[in-house]
Amino acid sequence: MAICFDKETKTFYLEGKSTTYAFFINNFGYAEHLYYGSKIHRDYLLFTRSGSTQTFQATLPGLDRQPGFNTYNAMSPEITFFGTGDYREATVHPKFETGDRLTQLHYHSHEILDEKPRISCMPSLDGGKTLVLHLYDEVKSFGADLYYTVYDDCDVIARRIVYINNSDSEIAIERAYSFAFALPTADYDMISLFGGWACERQLERTPLHHGVSSVDSKRGSSSASLNPFVAIVGKDTNETSGNAYGFNLIYSSSYVLKAERAVGGEVIVSGGINDFDFEWKLGAGETFETPEAVIAYSADGIGGMSRELHDAYRNHLINKKYAHAPRPILINNWEATYFKFTTEKLSAIADAVEGTGIDTLVLDDGWFGKREDDSSGLGDWVVNEQKLVGGLDAVINHVHSKGMKFGLWFEPEMISEDSDIFRAHPEYAIGVPDRKRCYSRHQFVMDLTNPEVRDYVVNSVNAIVRNHEIDYVKWDFNRNITEFFSLGLDAEYQSEFSHRYALGLYDICERIVNGNPDVFFEGCSGGGARFDPAILYYFPQIWASDDSDAEERTRIQYGTSLAYPLSAMSCHVSAVPNHQVNRITSFETRGNIAHLGATGYELDTTVFTDNDRAAVKAQIENYKKMERLVLDGDLYRLENPFESDYFAFAIVSKDKSQAHLTCYRSLGHCNPHAHRVVMQGLDKNKEYYIPELKIIVHGSTLMNVGLTVNFPKGDFQTKVYHFEEK
Ligand code: DGJ
Repeated sequence: MAICFDKETKTFYLEGKSTTYAFFINNFGYAEHLYYGSKIHRDYLLFTRSGSTQTFQATLPGLDRQPGFNTYNAMSPEITFFGTGDYREATVHPKFETGDRLTQLHYHSHEILDEKPRISCMPSLDGGKTLVLHLYDEVKSFGADLYYTVYDDCDVIARRIVYINNSDSEIAIERAYSFAFALPTADYDMISLFGGWACERQLERTPLHHGVSSVDSKRGSSSASLNPFVAIVGKDTNETSGNAYGFNLIYSSSYVLKAERAVGGEVIVSGGINDFDFEWKLGAGETFETPEAVIAYSADGIGGMSRELHDAYRNHLINKKYAHAPRPILINNWEATYFKFTTEKLSAIADAVEGTGIDTLVLDDGWFGKREDDSSGLGDWVVNEQKLVGGLDAVINHVHSKGMKFGLWFEPEMISEDSDIFRAHPEYAIGVPDRKRCYSRHQFVMDLTNPEVRDYVVNSVNAIVRNHEIDYVKWDFNRNITEFFSLGLDAEYQSEFSHRYALGLYDICERIVNGNPDVFFEGCSGGGARFDPAILYYFPQIWASDDSDAEERTRIQYGTSLAYPLSAMSCHVSAVPNHQVNRITSFETRGNIAHLGATGYELDTTVFTDNDRAAVKAQIENYKKMERLVLDGDLYRLENPFESDYFAFAIVSKDKSQAHLTCYRSLGHCNPHAHRVVMQGLDKNKEYYIPELKIIVHGSTLMNVGLTVNFPKGDFQTKVYHFEEK
């Protein structure tokens, strides 16, 4: 890993694990992109410029009749700006005191740092060598610091921009994206992850058309509708080969990611905080920090791109204490009881799993305030002792006496209209004076832009977490924001609301999550509706979806794995008929699919027979054998359930001595043909013992000939195989 500046050619070479990112400062002081891809020599790369002549293009300001590269509109940018002949999506849109919105950001200086500076108040990747490129508009005393970080253990580049007002007057920033990134002329496809409740992160691949293609959220949450992730891949790129670029924002509020294809076929990807309903007042002498974007590159197709992101998140984003540590194997009472539970019932659920390997009981929604259903009580973080006779400690002590850990559900950002806290402080809920609020799941959102509200949330949640022996917290977020207004902000600052909500969220996460370092926190959002890298920074795993049906989960987990590691996804074995889709799948299938993540159980264990208990025990023993692969292994997606009836994930240890393969077939057929699954990621020269087949075979054979998978008869069947180096 190195960052080098060639003074003669004014070229920066940023070298990661096996990639080079290069740009140079051109004659006009503009940072011009040259290359991002597999590692190359530090050659002079200006011959790669496509350029353009002056014909019918705006000149550079004040420079008529300049030969050669003479218009911003044709240069490959590191940042774009409006009003100087560049008509592409602007990275930044400042409005100055005079009302003009023009800026020209030219090279001023740079620094190369061994220590990556942290963004204040927002999550980001840690470590890595960092280049800070200082760009400046002398006319307006307006600056942009572009941060680039490279790593020696993963092929990602982290990018963000800090905007600086060095003038004497306020600047209204109407757009403040985190990056712009240029790709050379080619035919590209865009891959995005759309969805909704119980169908999060469904994969969509479309040709990248001319003009702007985008994904965004205007919900104050990264949302289930479109994940803050896109991949731009070559037309012929597949899972195993071809150029694949992944873009992910470490951000949890309204965002946008855009890919703009120009007439010549070149593409600029940009994005950050959604500029819809956004304006930030940057006072004299102030700076504005944008969230970090992660850009991954692989020449080994979409699978390679995902593995780079997985390594980046496991090594540089997720809390180090937990990132590679075995996760709790839990029993959650939600689908077992919903809101109807008692101290006895919860104790019985714990008793019923004794000796199975389940090590944590999580008490879900309904233990606090007045909360018999989802219409009341949120915000009253006081134990409901009428429901939980003996208080929370009676359950906790019982669970601990069984040698298990105890987890508790919260929804810290929410407030019910029917709650003591709302009756006392209706202004704690987001709302606009004189207008009725929108309900969603009968609840409102706490105004986290207001420090007093944040203090209330932190103090009331921490009081429970600290006054009881709580080992685990599930942090839910069940609705999106609607009114986007704070009573605590003056009129001219209201368009800062969405971003201030994100900052408020990170503040309470710092004080609750990081403030209780020995408690394990799981993220959740009405299923997996806020599954983004910023949440992953605080929460080592996130509930992937309320849809726990194994068949539907193959697609949800496949889509999620494009950007996020398996260990980040909470996956539970639930009851059949499945509560969401009414489907019946075998216990084995449910287990095998739920084992492709941070696994757990969510069903009424008090009805377990001895056989059921033995089956859970056997399942967990099997999970333990593959747990290290789930936590640290490389994922290979062998079969895509969006394209066929089949799904297959292989996970291979970094040293290629071990692997696990899970194969799934959706519908059974009479007289089925033999189904061959070809392995990936093994060492071709190593010999592997496959206990399920009692054979020893070379990696080369498994990765070329493959295995014939004989699924059991029937629908929704799985087969698993282990590979151990001989
Ligand atoms: C939505 C979550 O996704 C569920 O797992 C459960 O915690 C409910 N909320 C509780 O209200």
